[in-house]
Amino acid sequence: MTWLVIILCFRGYFAVQMANISVQDQSLMDYELLRLLLKLRQEEFYDTLLVYGEDCEFHSLTRNLDVAVVLLSDTMNFDWIFSSLTLILSCGLGIEKGGSNSTTFKLQRNRRLVVLKGDVQPSNICDIYTQKDQYNIAFVKENFGESNVIYSCRYFQEPNIEEVHLSEARPIFIEQFRNMKGKAIRIVPDLLPPRSMQYQDANETKMIGYVANLINNFAQKLNATLQLHILNPSTSITEISRMARDDELDMGVFLEASLFSTNLDTASYPYLLTSYCLMVQVPEKVPYNWVYAIIVDPLVLGIIFVMFCLLSLLLIYSQKMSWQKLSLSNILLNDKSLRGLLGQSFPFPLNASKKLRLIFTILCFASIMLNTMYDAYLQSYFTDPPSEPYIRSFKDIGKLRHKTVITATEANVLTSTNNTKFLEIPKKHLRIYESARELLALRDTFNLSYNYLVTEDRWSSYAEQHKLFKEPMFYYSNDLCFSRMIFFSIPLRRQLPYRHLFNEHMMRQQEFGLVKYWKGHSFFDMVRLGLTTLEDLSQPKPYSPSLVMEDISWIVKLYLIATLLCVFCFMSELGWEKWKRWRELRN
Ligand SMILES: *[C@@H]1O[C@H](CO)[C@@H](O)[C@H](O)[C@H]1NC(C)=O
Ligand SMILES: *[C@@H]1O[C@H](CO)[C@@H](O)[C@H](O)[C@H]1NC(C)=O
Ligand SMILES: *[C@@H]1O[C@H](CO)[C@@H](O)[C@H](O)[C@H]1NC(C)=O
Ligand SMILES: *[C@@H]1O[C@H](CO)[C@@H](O)[C@H](O)[C@H]1NC(C)=O
Ligand SMILES: *[C@@H]1O[C@H](CO)[C@@H](O)[C@H](O)[C@H]1NC(C)=O
Ligand SMILES: *[C@@H]1O[C@H](CO)[C@@H](O)[C@H](O)[C@H]1NC(C)=O
Repeated sequence: MTWLVIILCFRGYFAVQMANISVQDQSLMDYELLRLLLKLRQEEFYDTLLVYGEDCEFHSLTRNLDVAVVLLSDTMNFDWIFSSLTLILSCGLGIEKGGSNSTTFKLQRNRRLVVLKGDVQPSNICDIYTQKDQYNIAFVKENFGESNVIYSCRYFQEPNIEEVHLSEARPIFIEQFRNMKGKAIRIVPDLLPPRSMQYQDANETKMIGYVANLINNFAQKLNATLQLHILNPSTSITEISRMARDDELDMGVFLEASLFSTNLDTASYPYLLTSYCLMVQVPEKVPYNWVYAIIVDPLVLGIIFVMFCLLSLLLIYSQKMSWQKLSLSNILLNDKSLRGLLGQSFPFPLNASKKLRLIFTILCFASIMLNTMYDAYLQSYFTDPPSEPYIRSFKDIGKLRHKTVITATEANVLTSTNNTKFLEIPKKHLRIYESARELLALRDTFNLSYNYLVTEDRWSSYAEQHKLFKEPMFYYSNDLCFSRMIFFSIPLRRQLPYRHLFNEHMMRQQEFGLVKYWKGHSFFDMVRLGLTTLEDLSQPKPYSPSLVMEDISWIVKLYLIATLLCVFCFMSELGWEKWKRWRELRN
């Protein structure tokens, strides 16, 4: 019995001892890991922990930290909708199963801390992650409690594992892409001026333009080199977006419109925000020989005629204060009223009554108003003829003198997105071009056969060019827009590991106003590279200092016809009288 008690006591003692040891071990590991997490938080702030994998130290540890924790049992098969300031803690390997693209994509850059169980080769782990373009990896082994050593993968450029002691001041994670030490970035430029333009400097092919400059500066900042791949001129420009999707390039020197893509997986943050409208030919001026026609408005003529009849009636009545002389011919051919309205002199009856004088006053006033109005119209329109009306809505677009030209790709996208404005345009008014490059060439030469689609961003350099023209050829129509807000992003490879650095760089360039500056200079860069000229493409008509007979020819012709008609009437009246008398004599 005593033995049994003793044995039991011993067992109890040993059990407690054993428990004490493992608790000690456990708490030591926990304690050191906690220190590590705090150190990592100081290096770079995080407010969310993502813990996944089988049960391990991290699960109990997270209770001691005041951060949000997301626990995952096995797969990453869900959409990451939490903070981007996340530290990923993983227990062992073999957990990177599946995982939706967007989650891996969003968490690609986040720091990962792995606890390794058993003996796994450290270099294997780094290799696995590097193949997935994940470079921010560190791991600790089971004996971390005692050793305090963290292994950090520095696999960019050369494979290298750095051992950092917890008490050291050295950072555990570093931004490995801050200095790329001459590594090449594969780029494909679209070479569409003024965004990117190619030129030769010594033996090197270089690029300039407000998109090219952005990429050039980025490479310079990261100490990387640019590996240029020039597209065959016959390939479509949208090929660049396709290459980005298929990981055939790192960056495209190209602007991809938000209209064409649904997500930003293979694109940077928006670089430019602009509107997308029609560039319409400035309406022509009305020719001089039409000036007479446009100032004679039928409604105004009608009002004048009614006024004329009323004045005639009043004159007829007030002469004798009776309707005795009332007849149609007296109203329509009232010479006083007619001469009065045309500003001519007419006989003023002696001792006219007050009422008659009053009516004459009205007549004179109407005459002054009428004559000065038409005189002013005529003189100002002859000095500067008005233009034909501007088109203000898509409903009236058929009235434009020229068709609107568009590429097949754009037409498809606008149709598939049910762009109501685009669907309002009658099909016969559109001219669809297969080749975008051909169309851009037409637009760049301001070919007057069509109206074009343009972004406000591109228009800004056309506007600069227009300043050289004597007469504007096109104007940017703010009323005829397919979209007032479209984003342009730079195509990037899906898993580009320095995407965050690029986005940050891009925003900084915007912030400092460099993009605005480059855009302002883009037209002159084009001139410098010989891509456009300082010529006046508007071909202004020779200045005509005076009106010529031709300008009023049809008025004179009309006058001649009217005179002939009068003569004919007069002759027929005479003839009629003669004929009547002759018949009377015969009877
Ligand atoms: C367990 O460890 C603590 C110190 O961590 C010690 O104070 C205690 O005496 C130990 N218990 C036993 C049974 O050894
Ligand atoms: C995930 O990305 C791969 C290439 O990295 C691609 O082939 C696959 O289609 C993508 N899956 C989805 C659902 O987008
Ligand atoms: C930039 O990269 C080159 C290798 O191409 C390297 O020799 C140089 O030291 C790097 N510059 C800096 C500032 O690290
Ligand atoms: C340009 O290339 C030629 C031969 O292709 C070479 O001889 C010359 O040294 C190069 N010049 C520069 C500045 O690289
Ligand atoms: C466009 O309209 C058609 C029919 O009006 C509809 O079937 C289609 O789903 C719409 N598409 C979009 C992207 O709204
Ligand atoms: C404008 O384009 C049309 C059709 O493509 C072409 O026939 C015409 O020659 C061009 N005009 C000019 C001035 O280039």
